[in-house]
Amino acid sequence: MALAIEDRAALDFVLSLRRHWAGTVYPRLRADFDAAVPSPVPVNDPESLAPLVHGLATYPWFSWLERGSQKMLWRAVSDAVVRQGALPPGPDGPATVEVDPDLVLPDWYTDWDIHVQPGGVWSHDLAGRVYELGARLVMLGENDDYAFHRLFVETALPKRSYRRMVDLGCGFGKSAWPLKQAHPEAEVIGVDLALPCVELAARRASERKLAVRFRQADATATGLEEGSADLVTSTMFVHEVPVDVLPAIFTEASRLLAPGGVLRFLDFQRTGDGLRDLAMVEHGARNNEPFLPPMIAADLPAMAAAAGLVNARWVAFDERGGGRLSDLSWPTRAEWHFPWAVLEAEKPQ
Ligand SMILES: C[S@@+](CC[C@H](N)C(=O)[O-])C[C@H]1O[C@@H](n2cnc3c(N)ncnc32)[C@H](O)[C@@H]1O
Repeated sequence: MALAIEDRAALDFVLSLRRHWAGTVYPRLRADFDAAVPSPVPVNDPESLAPLVHGLATYPWFSWLERGSQKMLWRAVSDAVVRQGALPPGPDGPATVEVDPDLVLPDWYTDWDIHVQPGGVWSHDLAGRVYELGARLVMLGENDDYAFHRLFVETALPKRSYRRMVDLGCGFGKSAWPLKQAHPEAEVIGVDLALPCVELAARRASERKLAVRFRQADATATGLEEGSADLVTSTMFVHEVPVDVLPAIFTEASRLLAPGGVLRFLDFQRTGDGLRDLAMVEHGARNNEPFLPPMIAADLPAMAAAAGLVNARWVAFDERGGGRLSDLSWPTRAEWHFPWAVLEAEKPQ
């Protein structure tokens, strides 16, 4: 749906502000940091650098611009979606949506406006569309055609045939559609707690003529059949879950997987670069993502192993084109970027 010129201008401004933050302000912060710490060593405890980093001249610019531009983003996006109003009726399939009117959302989910999105992705009818438009700006406009998610599917999944794929925390569907596009033979099921998201996901999938099942459910208890999936994925999901809930996510994923089935979770990991890792920890606070720092510090491969999965390990992911990398190290980059990584594990045969 076309945007009004006023909304287009506001969104373009926020997008350019965020690119400036990542591409210009972060390298200036890096230069200040490198001048103060000429020979940085890998840091296991990035928070120990906070007093030093907080004293750097460019730190307030980096810090405030991250939070301030995020608030501006949701304001601009919400204005645009409200001005657009309700969507006309969408196609009647081939995607489907399964709603659970009795689903009780966990307190940890409703207590926080994750990503600083007012009301989160679940609390009102337009929340899914606000999230959809906001996601384009959060990804600095570089995921407009969802190339990021296609790259994940193309590079992080074993080349084999799949009967059923389950995508946990599918949001408005952008992580589930490429699974179906790449594997039309598979039944693809996207699971999410948020009703506005699964409804929008089904609509957008139908517009793309993709027969994907969307299901409103908790990823800890999907209600799907045991041993029925050859693949369980999640993207940008596990950092939104409290660390004490993560074992239940792995238990459910392991329960769903058939023997020889594959788990692939795309999320974040520490880089060993103290400045970047501190910025990630503080991103948790600046972006209302309280579960992110504990998730990065936790041992998710051990949780996967405790749930009965094998060969669990993280590898890095480069969203600029390389996708899944062979180990947990990232190419050197000047600009701010998220330390994307893929958690891999398998269900024993
Ligand atoms: C950042 S979004 C990621 C969406 C999508 N995977 C993507 O890559 O665009 C995280 C999603 O996880 C969902 N979520 C959080 N906790 C959940 C849970 N316990 N069960 C199912 N979905 C959950 C949220 O509603 C949100 O839509």
